[in-house]
Amino acid sequence: MTNRPKIIDGKALSQKIRSELKTKAAAFEASHNRKAGLAVILVGEDSASQIYVRNKITACEEVGIRSFAHYLPKETGKDDIIELIEALNSDNSVDGILVQLPLPDKSVENEILEHVSPFKDVDGFHAVNAGNLLLGNQCLAACTPSGVIELIKSAGTEISGKHAVVIGRSNIVGKPVAMLLLQENATVTVCHSKTRNLKDIAKDADILVVAIGKKEFVTADMVKVGAVVIDVGMNRHDGKLYGDVKFDEVSEKAAFITPVPGGVGPMTITMLLNNTIKAAERGSK
Ligand code: GUN
Repeated sequence: MTNRPKIIDGKALSQKIRSELKTKAAAFEASHNRKAGLAVILVGEDSASQIYVRNKITACEEVGIRSFAHYLPKETGKDDIIELIEALNSDNSVDGILVQLPLPDKSVENEILEHVSPFKDVDGFHAVNAGNLLLGNQCLAACTPSGVIELIKSAGTEISGKHAVVIGRSNIVGKPVAMLLLQENATVTVCHSKTRNLKDIAKDADILVVAIGKKEFVTADMVKVGAVVIDVGMNRHDGKLYGDVKFDEVSEKAAFITPVPGGVGPMTITMLLNNTIKAAERGSK
């Protein structure tokens, strides 16, 4: 008998959360006499980044957040980017600051991100926020990982006590999602390119989060019947978008699975809007 998985609809969940955020944004505006504000910095002309930034700005407008877009030429030096960030840190109409990655010069990314005020770090990439996430303190958590947790919960899945396997150990997704799953009382295993027996470990997962950046890396033989599979992959190939999971065959075994596109993607922007409202409400406290 074929197992019929339930597809977790990230678009529908995003819409639901965004309508709640609209109410919060309006309440913030009413009590502060200004809209919550998000500044977005894009350096260079990477076409995927241009699309992401455009989508973020449109999403802000839809929920009632003011956006401030800063498009800088690709040859902009590190010091000029930092100067802009410092100005935005002191600008009271800006509650969140986002530097779209990758920067043309990847070697300066970490240094630049550390100049964003932790109170305005709506990406959750600053060491202070990453550290507070590790310690279980209040913080701005990274957007894609927060979206992953919301997607799992939306399926009605209990996370506590489950074996959650994360494939990928990036600072943006793998590490923070592992911390959030741990906070939800999962037993967490993080796998990466050097992991031995990755297939066996993945096959033991009740919850499998895949963020390895390799097209259709996870195949049906790596998945337990009844698992919840969250695919963070966004691999462009011949003009088409592919996940890190071979959807057609894995969906035969999973109880719940996210599609690509339409799964994790829309949730990343929604959690960015959520963090912006949270940062605005919290201020520099
Ligand atoms: N590039 C790819 N994903 C992200 C993200 O979540 N935030 C930023 N700032 N850049 C990205």
